[in-house]
Amino acid sequence: MSASITKCLFPVAGLGTRFLPATKEIAKEMLPLVDRPIIEYGVDEAVGSGCREMVMITGRSKKAIEDHFDRSFELEELLKSRNKESLYNEVVSRSTRADFIYLRQHRPLGLGHAVLCGEPVCRNEYFGVILPDDVMVAETPVLSQLIEVHKARGGCVLALEEVPEADTARYGIVVAESAGDGVFAIRDMVEKPGPERAPSRLAIMGRYILSPGIFPLLSAQGTGAGGEIQLTDGIRAIIGAEPVWGLLYRGRRFDCGTQVGWLDANISLAMEHPALREVVLEAVRRCGERNSI
Ligand code: UTP
Repeated sequence: MSASITKCLFPVAGLGTRFLPATKEIAKEMLPLVDRPIIEYGVDEAVGSGCREMVMITGRSKKAIEDHFDRSFELEELLKSRNKESLYNEVVSRSTRADFIYLRQHRPLGLGHAVLCGEPVCRNEYFGVILPDDVMVAETPVLSQLIEVHKARGGCVLALEEVPEADTARYGIVVAESAGDGVFAIRDMVEKPGPERAPSRLAIMGRYILSPGIFPLLSAQGTGAGGEIQLTDGIRAIIGAEPVWGLLYRGRRFDCGTQVGWLDANISLAMEHPALREVVLEAVRRCGERNSI
């Protein structure tokens, strides 16, 4: 049985070009999703999965992320003086529930390179990775589902989702054998194949348990597709040296890396929020009436 996972790495140094112009100066991870920034959903998931150290790989224009998770004594004093106790408690607990560590990726050289930037903090143990754009809503946090597979079977674990044939070109697709209970032994993977080349419809989503053994492989591998250091190439290199499992996770995913996905997530999650459901329905009703005039 393997040890638990206490560190979670968040690569947040991407440029967010699919979300321009909104993301020219504001990190996409700081855009609000209903009542908090996108990044908070990932941190909630990691904390709910037992992680205590959040390792953020940041880049230019990501300073707001650091400020967001820092204590803000001015704000805390103000809330206290106005007797807003529950808001005060919430603001303080969100900054103190974990340790936040920031490492800088000086140039956006790809997801694999961003993970490699975490080596100084994560080099001695298995660690989680959350791509915060993929917002996961689940009864049991998805990272925690992956950690259970790691504890029982050891090795690396990747979150898998079955995607329609037409969508395989958007994801890393695995060659895998079922090991029961939604777990798959991964034999190989192909980056963004069209339906004619895709070995399956099992796509890798933004949650991973990775071995520290990936760091020397990422560092040796050089750039791949698009002149970037690809994470999939690093994981492929690990297959054979240690087990790599995939888990068909139980939960829902919202792709908040695009405007369309972000809008969908806002409406869907607001509909599930007791204080906001009626607001959405009323707004849609009004638009319907206006359009039928
Ligand atoms: P994306 O593929 O979504 O790239 O990265 P991006 O730059 O963020 O967004 P687009 O495609 O230009 O719109 C997947 C994850 O990897 C991180 C991103 O922050 C995101 O969480 N990433 C990507 C890095 O941290 N560094 C990189 O060099 C590239």
